[in-house]
Amino acid sequence: MVSQSSASDGTADASYANNADIRSLFLKYWQELERCPNCINLGMGMPPIELFKYELEAQEEFDAGRQIWQAEYQHQAGDKSVREAFSKFEAERTGIAYTAENIMLVSGALRGFSLVLDCLVKDGTRVVEIVPTYPLCSGQARNASERRGGKLLTVVPKDTKTFQITFEEIKPYIQPSTIIYLTNPNNPTGLYLPKDVLSKIVTTCENEGAYLIIDQACDLPLNPIYDDRTYLDSPSVIRILSLSKTYLLAGFRLGYVVANPQLIEIFSNAFAFSDGNAPCVANKAIIKYLNNSQLMPLFSKVSRHKVELALNRLTKCRSVIEFIKPEACFYIFLKISYPYSSWRLFKELVSRGVNVVPGCLFGVREGCWIRICCGREDDVLIKYLDKLSQALDSL
Ligand SMILES: Cc1ncc(COP(=O)(O)O)c(C=O)c1O
Repeated sequence: MVSQSSASDGTADASYANNADIRSLFLKYWQELERCPNCINLGMGMPPIELFKYELEAQEEFDAGRQIWQAEYQHQAGDKSVREAFSKFEAERTGIAYTAENIMLVSGALRGFSLVLDCLVKDGTRVVEIVPTYPLCSGQARNASERRGGKLLTVVPKDTKTFQITFEEIKPYIQPSTIIYLTNPNNPTGLYLPKDVLSKIVTTCENEGAYLIIDQACDLPLNPIYDDRTYLDSPSVIRILSLSKTYLLAGFRLGYVVANPQLIEIFSNAFAFSDGNAPCVANKAIIKYLNNSQLMPLFSKVSRHKVELALNRLTKCRSVIEFIKPEACFYIFLKISYPYSSWRLFKELVSRGVNVVPGCLFGVREGCWIRICCGREDDVLIKYLDKLSQALDSL
């Protein structure tokens, strides 16, 4: 395991943030925010629905779901027509000939992730994560490893500017009985793993009998991607997707897993005896969204605009010494000129009325990084960023 040097502030906060288990740190993050309910929110945010209002209009479909479908149960992997629609959508995006048998619906990407780990982690399994990573995934990776006798290994990329892992860094970890998980695009950096690195990881996992879980919850490219993704067509690859970001349905808890049919059968059988069924109420609305080819390009266009606006504004802030220009989604990871830990900075900013996500929640403990969310109305975003800049420059 590659370790990070700890922040040098030497305070109780720094020592807490450096040593705390990610699960308690994540809860503490929410507790801190509760103390400051009037904070402006540049943190764990999602774009307001108003940004896409008319295009996301599906009132009739949701109503129909409530009236007609609510009395139903469905196949444990989800309704066949919805799985077919997802397989078509994924086939178009990747070039892989997916069918309904490759898909199962889950209650959000996070439940998909925990379900896959629950099914695959056994005594002695090595679960490998790559920093930075999403706090809820890392918490679940720890839960599953502890419960099932697995061993968790954390890899920190040498590249401290963009945190991109190289194949040489990850290769030694790919062994039999290994599950590697990564977020692609990465949350918080918004960068995709280069195709040559990802395809080599896939091939090596397949050769070694290891699994690769790719959490694609943030897969909302800011510019169109034309590369051939057929290299993902492997029995070792388990892809996890979410409707939370792409259709702003976080509250519905909807996601889906894409994998080979044997794995889907294992996962959906386990799901039936843990969660019962995925909810049916949004089935009709999902089909409507999937049939609208304009929605994804619109989300990309709006997100691109927000990110550009925010970057433009942030380059004027003296305290921002580095930023990672995202390729996807609506978050930006920023390095701040601040001699103490990101946890301490987070608390300072909250006390000044600004909520951001500290880098330590993503496992980044070297340097002071924060993640901000740009999914806001333009005037709100500008106002919030100016407030953030003022707060940072006054520290
Ligand atoms: C990498 C990653 N995984 C999972 C999730 C959560 O997805 P869901 O709401 O579908 O559980 C998010 C949400 O931000 C995410 O960024």
